[in-house]
Amino acid sequence: MNQKNKQIVGFVILSVVVGLIIEWMLPSGNGYSALLPLKITLYLIFVGALFSARYVVNKMNNLYLSLSTEEEKEAFLEKQEAKKIDWSDWKSIVKSLSDAKPIEEEEEIILNHDYDGIRELDNNLPPWWLYGFYMTIVFAFGYIVYYHVLDGDTQKDEYLAEVAQAKKEIAAYEATQEKVDLTALDTGSNEEGKKLFKRNCAVCHAVDGGGKIGPNLTDDYWILGGGIENVYNTIAEGGRPGKGMIAWKNSFSPQKLQQLAAYVVSLQGTTPEAPKEPQGEIYKVEKK
Ligand code: HEC
Repeated sequence: MNQKNKQIVGFVILSVVVGLIIEWMLPSGNGYSALLPLKITLYLIFVGALFSARYVVNKMNNLYLSLSTEEEKEAFLEKQEAKKIDWSDWKSIVKSLSDAKPIEEEEEIILNHDYDGIRELDNNLPPWWLYGFYMTIVFAFGYIVYYHVLDGDTQKDEYLAEVAQAKKEIAAYEATQEKVDLTALDTGSNEEGKKLFKRNCAVCHAVDGGGKIGPNLTDDYWILGGGIENVYNTIAEGGRPGKGMIAWKNSFSPQKLQQLAAYVVSLQGTTPEAPKEPQGEIYKVEKK
């Protein structure tokens, strides 16, 4: 590739990157963005700056050359030549990133002072670092425009927007779910709850709720609290750790848990065949 083509390729890559950065800082969303004129302006400013910078550098070089002697001219051109990067040679690329003097030439840049035998080289700043630094300046420019001129969303705004969005989604989700009404089933017959209880709970609580490993569910004494809400909670979340009553919320839907809780509550006051001695404390259900 000759010099001119390289410049064109470099220019195209740079302007695409800038276009992407502008789009990223000021996203259009869907459809027409009111920011479009601003974006075009920013883009033109950048392109203009790029061209002017090249122009100025060229002119300065020419000026320097026209004012210097033959020797200086040669030295200058030689330096320019030395700076050229051979893109097909990895070493040349690495060297251009560090711009450090080769060891043989270090004499030229060693500083005068001597700290107990330690001496210092006055190398140029490595270009990889320098251009990174320039990029932070460019970034800062975009940052200021976005946050301080256009009043872009701060982190707090973004957070609040996300929370509001999440609340909306939760509300939408809840609207699709069947409501669990804890008071609906705690009286009257509940065949479904009875079936579930027989199948899953009777091993420990006995078919009639009189209790085996698990406590008697028909008396007024409760370890974890009586009443439909406490009972529902115990069934869903389980008893005290290590006691044997697991959490059932992963096995049953809220509807089924509700039916179970309602069935357990409906056992109150019935007389089981072999009631287990009371455990826990008397619990009075507050009438609402
Ligand atoms: C492996 C045995 C076992 C099974 C199965 C079991 N439980 Fe329990 N359950 C217990 C034990 C033990 C306790 C006491 C927990 C504690 O002391 O923390 C208990 C406590 C309870 C309590 C609270 C009692 C109180 O006095 O506060 C309720 C309500 C209950 N179980 C309902 C159920 C239901 C409904 C099922 C079926 C879905 C079930 N249990 C299945 C062993 C079991």
